[in-house]
Amino acid sequence: MGRIPVESASATEIVVEGKRLTGFGGCNYLGLAHHPEVLNAVKAGLDRYGLSTTASRETTGDTTSHDSLETELATFLQAEQCLVTPEGYSANLALGQALARDYRVAITDEKSHRSVSHAVTAAGMRVIAYPHLDARAAGALAGEYVREGVVILTDGVFAADGSIAPAKALFDVLPKGRALLVIDDCHGFCVLGRSGRGTADHHGLTSAGVPLDSRVVLTTSLAKGLGCYGGALAGPSSIIQVAQDIASVYRGTTPAPPAIIEGSRQALKVVARDPMLIQKLRSNTDRLRRGLHKLGISLYPTPAPIFTFVTGDFPSMERIHRRLVSEGYLAPLIAYPGGPSDQYFRVTVNAMHSAEQIDGLLAAFGRAIDSEPTVKAGLGAEAKPLKFSEGRADGRTGTRELIGPWDLSLTPVFSPRLPA
Ligand SMILES: Cc1ncc(COP(=O)(O)O)c(C=O)c1O
Repeated sequence: MGRIPVESASATEIVVEGKRLTGFGGCNYLGLAHHPEVLNAVKAGLDRYGLSTTASRETTGDTTSHDSLETELATFLQAEQCLVTPEGYSANLALGQALARDYRVAITDEKSHRSVSHAVTAAGMRVIAYPHLDARAAGALAGEYVREGVVILTDGVFAADGSIAPAKALFDVLPKGRALLVIDDCHGFCVLGRSGRGTADHHGLTSAGVPLDSRVVLTTSLAKGLGCYGGALAGPSSIIQVAQDIASVYRGTTPAPPAIIEGSRQALKVVARDPMLIQKLRSNTDRLRRGLHKLGISLYPTPAPIFTFVTGDFPSMERIHRRLVSEGYLAPLIAYPGGPSDQYFRVTVNAMHSAEQIDGLLAAFGRAIDSEPTVKAGLGAEAKPLKFSEGRADGRTGTRELIGPWDLSLTPVFSPRLPA
């Protein structure tokens, strides 16, 4: 339940069960998964390397492409060193293994991605969740545990509500001594900051000529904004080199295929070179936001291209969803904790959507809402901003300790729905 098997895809359209839909889901924020230069780089990489290195990078599976991408990512993110890992998930696991040597306590946002909580619990650290976005609570906890070595962990942009971590405030509350800030920037990389440098840059933790502070570590996926596949961690050599030296999830696995790494290198060049792409993402985000507001839909106040909202009770949302699909639009209806309700729409827009596609989705939403008198009456004329603290699906919030490596209760699986 939950999978939507796609038969073919472009940056803005998918074919499902033979039906062509304009897609407003996924995380291909800049459309780079379909960019011609990126695809050509992958094709050239296939001719050069074949499909797989068939071995760990630490034995015979390293390539100059992987090494170059690490240097290029470190330069882009203004970090001392970078390590490319098989996925974003394993970037967090590798970092967890590296951190656990010197840091015993992890203080993590209660809405952090499951790979973040998995990484620190599996590494054997004591893990305490703090209320969503609450830098003061994070700082107070960090102060309590600094003698044991403490790490504050947060997503840069949270996938469920589009909220942006208060990265500067989290950095400022780091206690003196053995304390680090980790930002999982899977959804901020290629989206926020100068040329998509991400959440840290958005909050001024890096700027032109100002490198990333040695107490900040970034992790990211290469499969979202960059449109490719793989993961990376970037930060001070004293941490990144430890991950390279000891993290079994990196040392004992085959890396992302070199052709895909060539694609990532090209995608990074496009992002760094073409500020118009991010401008287009931002103007598309504004267009969709304005249109949803006009329909009376309440949204979280975020500049991220992620829109999560409810329009009424679940049966009526299912009917709206079904109607949108019948009109040729996929606006995913999902069940995932951390949004405004148990089930809600999670719509994303990307830089490749045309104004017509966005307006088409809005018009279809308008017709679907008009066909539901109770929903229409409930939405009213004026949209009110949602509060980020609202909407934990399990009703729990606040500081609490995660009990062990498999306490992943904070973030159960993402479950999209397509009408039967
Ligand atoms: C915040 C966050 N961290 C980590 C990951 C894992 O990245 P990947 O899919 O590259 O393993 C994801 C999504 O998949 C994510 O949303």
